[in-house]
Amino acid sequence: MCRQTAALLAVLTACLCGQRLCAAAKIQQLNHRPVIGVLAQENLPGDRFARGSSYIPASYVKYLEGAGARVVPIRINRTKEEYTNIFYTINGLLLPGGDVDLQTSQFSRAARIFYNLALKANDAGDYFPIWGTCQGFQQLSVLTANKNLLTLTDTKAVALPLTFLPAVQSSRMFRNFPSDLLQSLTEENITSNFHKWSLSLQNYSRNAKLKKFYKVLSTNNDGKKEFISTMEAYRYPFYAVQWHPEKSTFEWIDKPGMVHSTSAVRACFYTASFFVSEAMRSQHHFPNPVEEERALIYNFSPIYRGPHAIFVQNYYFD
Ligand SMILES: *[C@@H]1O[C@H](CO)[C@@H](O)[C@H](O)[C@H]1NC(C)=O
Ligand SMILES: *[C@@H]1O[C@H](CO)[C@@H](O)[C@H](O)[C@H]1NC(C)=O
Ligand SMILES: *[C@@H]1O[C@H](CO)[C@@H](O)[C@H](O)[C@H]1NC(C)=O
Repeated sequence: MCRQTAALLAVLTACLCGQRLCAAAKIQQLNHRPVIGVLAQENLPGDRFARGSSYIPASYVKYLEGAGARVVPIRINRTKEEYTNIFYTINGLLLPGGDVDLQTSQFSRAARIFYNLALKANDAGDYFPIWGTCQGFQQLSVLTANKNLLTLTDTKAVALPLTFLPAVQSSRMFRNFPSDLLQSLTEENITSNFHKWSLSLQNYSRNAKLKKFYKVLSTNNDGKKEFISTMEAYRYPFYAVQWHPEKSTFEWIDKPGMVHSTSAVRACFYTASFFVSEAMRSQHHFPNPVEEERALIYNFSPIYRGPHAIFVQNYYFD
């Protein structure tokens, strides 16, 4: 299916959705072979395992694979044309955690290109979800506000319970979570926080762009500042968590903030499963199976970085 046909189908679905045919049309259209792009970022300075110029922590790849998606690595430092071509072959984008500049890095440049493509596509009825974790959350806030409104918090290595807002009940992200898992998320310290920058509730509330764009689903507090820990866009399938659902299942560094309890591992799976189900609503695909095969992350091998590494395995790229 070409790009235009996919967009047309999406528009048709959008039209039908006023009627009772809506549910049936949507179910028929689910794409059970979703491919999700994960954006690479500049190598960490002093990473003695690094090869090439960029990396993707393998935990984000496993996170998506464990919920029924395949992954395409998206390299930094590519042309806008290349990114645009990739956009129409993938069913969603994940912006991982890490440590690059949110305004000047090649990671931020690529994220901006995909973000703008996704805004336009969704406006035209072509469903395209984006998920941001930690740095990915921060990057989305910078893209939406068109400036960096983050503030320092004392959240470098701590597991916290989420403080849910009433909006959770009607949120797309959480509404289908099992109720016992929602209870664990609010009562147990199972969300891993490994960030020094946060979006405070104050700066969010004072910024008209952010306030209009995102619905706050949960907050947390470092003892001084209340910051947003989970949000989703009102009108776009964009989702952002400041915490790290993937670490509980796939990272093993032994330090405060890491949690491997059953409920933490379930939170990992349910967030991934939610995002993959969103990607299943996208009909983007490769022009042919050969190009799909060439693009998939199976063409690369992750490097084991040892038991004390913040990311136990990374994929590296030129
Ligand atoms: C890729 O990186 C090189 C060296 O930093 C830079 O000169 C070039 O403009 C970059 N290309 C793109 C498409 O960003
Ligand atoms: C609000 O954003 C500014 C950056 O524009 C930052 O310097 C400040 O610390 C933030 N304040 C709070 C309370 O988040
Ligand atoms: C558990 O979360 C609370 C905040 O609700 C925090 O004060 C406390 O330090 C956390 N405990 C641990 C062991 O991380």
